[in-house]
Amino acid sequence: MTPMLVTNIGELVTWDDEQPILDDAAFVVDGGRIAWFGRRTEAPDADAVRDVGGAAVIPGFVDSHTHLVFAGDRSAEFEARMTGQPYAAGGIRTTVAATRAATDEQLAANVARHLSEMRAQGTTTVEIKSGYGLTVHDEARSLAIAREFTEQTTFLGAHVVPAESEIADYVELVTGEMLERCAPYARWIDVFCEDGAFGADESRAVLEAGIAAGLLPRIHANQLGPGPGVQLAAELGAPADHCTYLSDADVSAIADSGIVAGLLPGVEFSTRQPYPDARRLLDAGAAVALATDCNPGSSFTSSMAFCIAVAVRDMGMSPREALWSATAGGAASLRLDDVGHLRVGAKADFTVLNAPSYVHLAYRPGVPLVAATS
Ligand code: NIG
Ligand code: FE
Repeated sequence: MTPMLVTNIGELVTWDDEQPILDDAAFVVDGGRIAWFGRRTEAPDADAVRDVGGAAVIPGFVDSHTHLVFAGDRSAEFEARMTGQPYAAGGIRTTVAATRAATDEQLAANVARHLSEMRAQGTTTVEIKSGYGLTVHDEARSLAIAREFTEQTTFLGAHVVPAESEIADYVELVTGEMLERCAPYARWIDVFCEDGAFGADESRAVLEAGIAAGLLPRIHANQLGPGPGVQLAAELGAPADHCTYLSDADVSAIADSGIVAGLLPGVEFSTRQPYPDARRLLDAGAAVALATDCNPGSSFTSSMAFCIAVAVRDMGMSPREALWSATAGGAASLRLDDVGHLRVGAKADFTVLNAPSYVHLAYRPGVPLVAATS
């Protein structure tokens, strides 16, 4: 493919150390990678030119936490919550029943539909978890389906204990036969460390078994109340997602260990819980990722722009911090170095906004601002 010059960019977000955000900019794509960026007036000639008419261009969003392999609908549960019922993680079992009953084709079609929603909203890298199968067969097929769409697949057999099992037996299954069957399709292993799901010892057993099988650990931690998840994450060097209920010691553990704290504002929006305090984490020096947690129970949004708007309005983030967290922060959470930024060498995953500045992502909530995604 011939090199392409993308030019007449009103505001270009690269996250380059020296020029993180440039006005009146251009960049060159060669072989699917960023080959040059800088001032429009200094751009090299290219046979192919794309003029974006003064729009802002940002790195594609990196959604580091989703649960897209599922079937069924839980809108009635959402409606009940909005009229006073509390969120209970037990609702996960409703989706498990629907997922087990679905065909591979139905599950794959659901993943494709939600990924195309995400792409239309500027997301170019997506992590996908299993976790609604909870049998060896259903977890393995969930991951095989997810793998058709992304390399960033996560084995979450330890989502909840299925209704038919006791916790000790189930942990044995997850760390034994289920892990063996799922590991070939997964890069990551995850556990829902929470009262009502898995405690500290079980969570450690699950993550350590995954690490021994060659997977990278990540964790659902401190979502519904205080708990041991964040400390375990810091100890294992695992990204900790949710981080809604943090003690001062948890905040220090995140900052000192250098793990990425994943904040998922769609959850608190959809469960009417308090939002996590991003400002407290940022002020402590922690790296923060924003993700949708797209799932049919606690957060059925595919929109990273929505998460940015909430993070800015209600979690103490500046628009710039929120955009970093939705792009470079997501990449850091997934340990990817060639997405989430537009420095030389990055994959040419970029989003052209229908707006002169990235600030519009928070300033114009709910408005479809993505003109094109590469
Ligand atoms: O990330 N926390 C656990 N799992 C999901 C919720 C899944 C569901 O309610 O179906 C989450 O919020
Ligand atoms: Fe989740």
